[in-house]
Amino acid sequence: MLGLLSATDPRWVQVALGDLDAVLLDHFHCELKAASSALALAARYPSDPRRVQALTELAREELTHVQQASEVLASRGLVPGPPGEDSYARELRRVARTAPSEHLLDRLLLGSVIEARSCERLLLLSQAVPDEALRRWYGALYASEARHHRVFAALAEDAAGAGRARERLGELCALEAEVLAGLPVLPRIH
Ligand SMILES: [Fe+2]
Ligand SMILES: [Fe+2]
Repeated sequence: MLGLLSATDPRWVQVALGDLDAVLLDHFHCELKAASSALALAARYPSDPRRVQALTELAREELTHVQQASEVLASRGLVPGPPGEDSYARELRRVARTAPSEHLLDRLLLGSVIEARSCERLLLLSQAVPDEALRRWYGALYASEARHHRVFAALAEDAAGAGRARERLGELCALEAEVLAGLPVLPRIH
């Protein structure tokens, strides 16, 4: 799905449904991190106005998701604490190359891959969660994150050319599958 090289472990849906509150609390922080990392990228690479527009628009949508997630938490009487350890994102960031000519490309492509994985899991939740309002919300988020996946991929192609971007995307998708396979199956989005 969306270029991913592995499917989520089939046990994940049952684990997620078994502690949906934990999934929702993690999800709130995922949306906040998505907004802040899009803004951090715009701040670090502000030279292209189209990229700044795309990243800030994306961050705006992520902030809407933060607000929606916050409302869902409040409606369930859940109070988020500080974010827990995010092994998935940490492991993926570690593979981003640091040379200035490569760092932007890798960060954009990792954005694309992380959005793709979020999409896959939000779609699974939209098909499995018993509550109808939550199912609809997950379905809407799935469509939004699929669009973000494409925005990041297009920005990567703009920054480095389609050939280089696609080749590196293949490498990062393989690394993502490896990282995911090494993590426990938990009631989290990632
Ligand atoms: Fe989002
Ligand atoms: Fe997103």
